[in-house]
Amino acid sequence: MRYEVVLPAAGSGKRMGAGKNKLFLILQNKPILIHTLEVFQNDANCTGIWLAVKPEEREYIQRLLNEHHITKVKGLPNGGEERQHSVHSCIKEMEQVDIVLVHDAARPFITNDIIASLVECADVKGAAIAGVRAKDTMKKVRDGIIVETVDRDDLWMIQTPQAFQFDILYKAEDVAEKVGFLGTDEAMLVERLGYPVHIVEASYDNIKMTTVEDLVIGEAILRKRSQALGN
Ligand code: CTP
Ligand code: MG
Repeated sequence: MRYEVVLPAAGSGKRMGAGKNKLFLILQNKPILIHTLEVFQNDANCTGIWLAVKPEEREYIQRLLNEHHITKVKGLPNGGEERQHSVHSCIKEMEQVDIVLVHDAARPFITNDIIASLVECADVKGAAIAGVRAKDTMKKVRDGIIVETVDRDDLWMIQTPQAFQFDILYKAEDVAEKVGFLGTDEAMLVERLGYPVHIVEASYDNIKMTTVEDLVIGEAILRKRSQALGN
């Protein structure tokens, strides 16, 4: 099943503290951004990539795309103040497709099987997002005091990709913009319109490169993968 993907890449990576967009940091010889792009470049079902970028980084990113033979990028619109605005600027430029995925450019370890499960689920059910089960005991805390121990079976840690029938996401973003609603992920915008959003169990490897510790974990994930391939 074919799809197009939106990759918000217009953040500033403050929590990484590298003094530049964290997506340009190198993991095993390649920028994080390129690791992510290669997953979609090499997925035959992906028919187009939309990259939200900062205007001042567009030229550099275009050079990276050429250098690494990333040929599926259909547009690089300007990102916005918040991630949601960056995603929206891509959605507004896209032609209608059946299925659209939104995936953080900062999650380079996503795999093709998880993508395929999400696309399939969104095709049948409308909306599907990647997540993993919470591992630790979870408690709700207010003013430093436990209010409640939450049943862990009900708790999932949400990741991207988030996959949607295009019309559903388009409408959800349009409504959010009109009423000035800001969500932390695309699913929130869709949930508030009453659509059921399904969970696809993803992988603990699918981390978002956020703080310096993640660079160490990222290198370890890549090492594990190349050992599994016998390299
Ligand atoms: N992003 C974006 N536009 C924004 C903010 C974020 O396109 N205005 C992108 C980031 O580039 C990243 C993804 O959204 O690929 C997830 O965001 P996050 O991990 O928060 O990245 P940053 O915002 O760059 O990091 P920080 O919050 O630490 O500054
Ligand atoms: Mg951010």
